[in-house]
Amino acid sequence: MGIIAHGLIFHGMPERYDEIGRTYSMSRRTDPMIASALEVALGESGTVLNVGAGTGSYEPRERDVIALEPSPVMIAQRRRDAAPAVRGRAEALPFDNASFDAVMGVLTVHHWSDWRRGLAECARVARNRVVLLTWDPSIATFWLVNEYFPEHVAFDRRRFPSMIELTDVLGAIQTEPVLVPANCKDGFLGAFWRRPEAYLRPELRDGMSAFAQLPQAEARFARLKDDIASGKWHRMHADLLSLDAIDLGYRLVIAHARSH
Ligand SMILES: C[S@@+](CC[C@H](N)C(=O)[O-])C[C@H]1O[C@@H](n2cnc3c(N)ncnc32)[C@H](O)[C@@H]1O
Repeated sequence: MGIIAHGLIFHGMPERYDEIGRTYSMSRRTDPMIASALEVALGESGTVLNVGAGTGSYEPRERDVIALEPSPVMIAQRRRDAAPAVRGRAEALPFDNASFDAVMGVLTVHHWSDWRRGLAECARVARNRVVLLTWDPSIATFWLVNEYFPEHVAFDRRRFPSMIELTDVLGAIQTEPVLVPANCKDGFLGAFWRRPEAYLRPELRDGMSAFAQLPQAEARFARLKDDIASGKWHRMHADLLSLDAIDLGYRLVIAHARSH
C-alpha cells in the first residue's frame, strides 16, 4: 500500500511513465525557443515548483526550483545537477499554501487523472502565478493526426482541458501561442511537422505518449513512408516547407494567483 494523502494513493502505484517514459530523455530535450517563452512567463519568480517535471527539460537554472514527478523512471533520467525532485502527484501537492512564487507545468496537465484537482492544488501552493504549457483543443490538429491518425483528434480533444475550462479553476488567464520551430529540439507530437521522416523512427515515436495508445500504428506509418517515398507528402504539404515555425495550438497559460 502506498502513502495516502488527501484521499489519493500516490506512492507505490505503477506510473504510466514508468512504462512509456523509459527512453524519454533521448528524444525529449529542451527547445531553446520554448524555454525562453517559459522564462519570460515566469517573470520575477525566485522560487518555482515544476509539477510533472519529468526529466527536467524546462527547469530554469537561475531560480530556486523543486521538481515534483510521480514516475521514478522519469526521475532517474534527470541530470545529476538538476533541481531536487520530490515524488508525488499534482492532485495532492505535499506543500503548504503559497510556498512558491510560481508553479509551472509543461505538457503534463493532460496526463493527470484529475486535472481540476491538480490545478487547484497548483493555485493553492503558488504565491504569484501558475504557468502552463499545454495544447488548446479548439485549434485544428495538424497533418500527422488528420491524415494518418484521425481517431486521435477526438482523444486529444477530450484529454486536454479547453482554455475556458482552465479559467473555471484558475480564474482569469493570459494565453500566448508557442510556435513550434521547424528544427524543434523537443520531440513531442507536433515537433516534426516539417520533418515527416522523423515519425518513421521508432526511437523518436517512443517519446510521444500519443502513440502508446494508438493500435495499428505500424500500418499507418507504413503508409506515411510510402507517401514520403512517392513524393505525395511533399506535394500535399509544399506550403509547410518554407515555414520556419508554426502555430499548432500549443499555448502558454499564465494565471495570476488569487489571494490565499
Ligand atoms: C510529457 S511528460 C512532460 C515532462 C516534462 N514536464 C517535460 O516537459 O519534459 C508528462 C509528465 O507528467 C507526469 N505526470 C503524469 N501524471 C501526473 C500527475 N498526476 N501529477 C504530476 N505529474 C504527472 C508524467 O509522469 C510525465 O513525467
